[in-house]
Formats: sequence, C-alpha cells, structure tokens
Amino acid sequence: MAAATPAGDHSAPSARTLVIIPTYNERENIRLIVGRLHAALPDVHVLIADDGSPDGTGAVADELAAASDGRIHVMHRTEKNGLGAAYIAGFRWGLERDYTVLVEMDADGSHAPEQLHLLLEKVDGGADLVLGSRYVPGGTVVNWPWHREVLSRGGNIYSRLALGVKVRDITGGYRAYRREVLETLDLDAIESHGYCFQVDLAWRTLQAGFTVDEVPITFTERVIGDSKMSGNIVQEALFKVTVWGLRNRWVRLRGLVGRH
Ligand code: GDD
Ligand code: MN
Repeated sequence: MAAATPAGDHSAPSARTLVIIPTYNERENIRLIVGRLHAALPDVHVLIADDGSPDGTGAVADELAAASDGRIHVMHRTEKNGLGAAYIAGFRWGLERDYTVLVEMDADGSHAPEQLHLLLEKVDGGADLVLGSRYVPGGTVVNWPWHREVLSRGGNIYSRLALGVKVRDITGGYRAYRREVLETLDLDAIESHGYCFQVDLAWRTLQAGFTVDEVPITFTERVIGDSKMSGNIVQEALFKVTVWGLRNRWVRLRGLVGRH
C-alpha cells in the first residue's frame, strides 16, 4: 500500500507501531511493563487503556505519559467494560492516527516486551496478523496452574475443530495487526469480551482473507496482582465458538447444495 510515511521513519511497515495495553488494577505492573517495552524497542508508541482502575493505575499512567516525550498516551475510560471493549477503543484511537501496526499486550508481564520484535519482524515479512503463540514448537507457558493450561489448550483444540482453522493459539492475547486488517473489519459488530474476543478477531481476520501467522513466545504467569478472567468468560467462549462453527458449516453446505 502506498501509505504516506512520516518524515524520518524508515520504510518497514512496523515503523509506526502502537502497543495498546489495557489495564484494570495494574498500578505496580504498568510502570514495569512500559519500562521494559521502551528498553527493548525505544521507538514504539504506547496507549494505556485504563477502565478507571480503583487502585490508581490511571494516575500512574498519566505520570508516565507526562514524562514520555509523546511516546506514551493514556485513554481514561469510566467503567470496567472488559478487555475487548478497551482494545476496540484503543484500535479506533490508533486508526485515527497514522500508526501502521497495532499491537495487543497485557500489562501484567505475561507477554515479554523483549519478544515483540519477533512479531513485528513477521509483519514486516508480509503477515497481516501475527500471533504470539504458546502452542507452536518453541512456545511455552511458565508458572500457570495446571487447570489454566488445560483450559487454554482445550479451548484451542475446540476452536480449531469447530472453526476448521489451523491456528494453534487462537485464544492468545499477544498479537500484532497490520493497520489494514482493523480498517477492514467491522469493529462495531464485535461484542465478545474475554478469550472469546481474541478468537473472534482472529476468525474475522481469516474470513476476510488476511493471513494469520504465529511465532513462538514464552508466556509467564503474572507475579503481581490478579487475573480478571472468570467462569463467565469460558462459557461465553464455548457458546460463541460453537455458534460460529455451525454457522460456517451451514453457509458452506448451502453453497454446495445451491450448485446442483
Ligand atoms: N481496560 C481494561 N478493562 N483492562 C482489562 C479488563 C477490563 O475490563 N480486564 C482485564 N484487563 C487487562 C488486565 O489489566 C491485563 O493488562 C490484561 O487485560 C489481561 O488481563 P488478565 O486478567 O491478566 O488476563 P489473563 O492473564 O487471565 O488472560 C490472558 O491470556 C488469555 C489467554 O490465555 C489475556 O492475554 C487474554 O486476552 C487471553 O485470552
Ligand atoms: Mn494475565
């Protein structure tokens, strides 16, 4: 695409990268993660999308932004509306500006900023969406309780079968989207919240004809603070993935019948 490249940027698609970090009660983590990110990749911009965290994460984010030379931005949202809604607001913010790659990253240290270059290199190699994957050779999970890993692996196997896709880690939340993908998808139509939001976006990306690649990552369970995932999130994912899978089969079947 012949997008105008701002003066001073080199020509790689990832030259204008925005890393979106949703936060809810990540006061201690946010400083650490942004520090690690800028130590690893000084040129990327960060958008912290905070849902009015009671622990004051938003105020810490403002301090970081004030001291950042314009590389750190903060979006203050008034209600806790789930990670999906925070990401969609963040994507819109990025699309209104001239970012060429938009990244999803957790605040809690599970996604190592030191590995982000692996995702960006794949985008620069031509991939439209790159997933940081725990379940391709070389990928790992560190310090997860066994029930969490069983759930995650099970969710991925189920999604693969139901949707008929080859992606190994479709529930993962460490990703890099080429701008054109998010411009093409109908972001208004996305209602999913937890894991399901990640499956939803990858599935829509594939259906729109974009390429989805995976690179191995090391996912490390958080040390500080608590996970916000819940039983509802698992139920939502199971139900929606089943509906998408059945709908897809139905559409294909109708297509076959229609030809005779
Ligand atoms: N703004 C906002 N609003 N942020 C939120 C909300 C919310 O309602 N809920 C969670 N977050 C933020 C957290 O503060 C953290 O930065 C990030 O979203 C991930 O939340 P966790 O609670 O740490 O999620 P997790 O570790 O259980 O799940 C991770 O792995 C899943 C796959 O195994 C995430 O990466 C998921 O996206 C992923 O599906
Ligand atoms: Mn986490």
